[in-house]
Amino acid sequence: MTAVPELHGLDISRLRDIDLFAPSLKSDPLPAFREWVRYEPFYAIIAGAPAAVVTRYHDVAAAFSDHEKLSSEKPRLAGWERLDYFNGELNIAFSDPPVHTRLRKTLASPLLPSAVRPLTAAIQHIVSSLLDRVEGDTMEVMSQLALPAARNVMLGALLGLPEADFDIFITLTHEMFSLGDQPEGAGHPPSYEAAWASARHYIDAVIDREQAAPTDGVIGQLARAYRDGTLSRGEMVAQMITLYAGGTSPIATLIGSALLMLARHPEQLALLRAEPHRMEATIDEVLRYHSPGLFNFRFAREDFDLNGLFVPAGMPVYMVGHAANFDPDIYDDPFAFDIARERKPLLVFGRGIHFCIGFHVARLVTRTVLEATLERFPQIVLADAEIEYTGNPQERAPVAVRLQVARSISV
Ligand code: HEM
Repeated sequence: MTAVPELHGLDISRLRDIDLFAPSLKSDPLPAFREWVRYEPFYAIIAGAPAAVVTRYHDVAAAFSDHEKLSSEKPRLAGWERLDYFNGELNIAFSDPPVHTRLRKTLASPLLPSAVRPLTAAIQHIVSSLLDRVEGDTMEVMSQLALPAARNVMLGALLGLPEADFDIFITLTHEMFSLGDQPEGAGHPPSYEAAWASARHYIDAVIDREQAAPTDGVIGQLARAYRDGTLSRGEMVAQMITLYAGGTSPIATLIGSALLMLARHPEQLALLRAEPHRMEATIDEVLRYHSPGLFNFRFAREDFDLNGLFVPAGMPVYMVGHAANFDPDIYDDPFAFDIARERKPLLVFGRGIHFCIGFHVARLVTRTVLEATLERFPQIVLADAEIEYTGNPQERAPVAVRLQVARSISV
């Protein structure tokens, strides 16, 4: 991979002063998006380096789709080991063809709608058990519902792990996301190495278990790919942890964002209650208006023209999908939250070969949680209008969403 170039030699008039990591982009991004969504592709200094940025719907869609010119591999620049989440193992999200094609093939079938639909009863059980534990007339959505539901669905229903083994993957994910706090060049801390070794050891046991009694689903599929030589044991760990880490937080965030948006817009909540067939459109509108993700990025493989902007080889290209959700060329009255608006293809799950493999799971879990929550609580009111956000710069994840809930409608 070519080193990131200097701004020298680029058209400085295309440079804009934007801050992709500003906290306000999570708490109140609309003022920025109103401006950005009108910009042609431009340069900005991001994380200290010159980068290209796209914010309009068609530019973002084109960049997501162009895996020939834009690479998903992370360049191994100085200090990169802080971002080596998968212990040097190849991973579906950060790879290009042919590696990406090989890895995606091992995961695709257990995540197809036909494989995911049968998980419905297990997901309903997880959700209703969590709702049963809500006492009194308040519920903090993230800790009492969204995060445990996402974790239990991903590790239990989807990956098929017994609850006693959850901690192996929860600990490794925590260690992975702590790598960014390491000083540059420090390498992996012993706690990360221990967590990886423990997951690797677990995979050995899974392979033996699957050899003796093969199962369907993600783990069974990965073990088969190991047996037929498609995947190494280390790659099995990397794909499992990618699914868990890549799926849990966005599902939880989507659930929290959905209940937040509905509580903030009681007239929309009333419309959904009156016309429950609008559930899928409601999930789309939440994804559009309050996306779990703000942006994604790639690296230019070669010099190329990005809709009129010269992008030199090696330059990072940021695709601000959340801004593109407000493109007035695509959406009428884009700054209104309206579950009855005409549905359009979303960019929130990406486009092209890296399109989110967990799309069907994410939607199924969110729909199940919303249906069960609305049925359980005929009244939902936002208890705390001030929302704080957490997560890495790419995420837009509420820390807490406090609701006042009532089990029967008071007259
Ligand atoms: C609301 C929930 C979710 C959102 C908004 C979301 C968003 C995305 C986006 C934008 C991409 C494309 C990234 C890129 O092109 O660089 C992606 C890819 C991916 N997602 Fe999701 N995701 C969600 C849920 C899930 C779930 C539940 C899983 C796991 C079951 C998952 C696993 C993955 C994986 C493995 C990839 C990489 C696919 C590839 O590179 O071929 N995601 N996701």
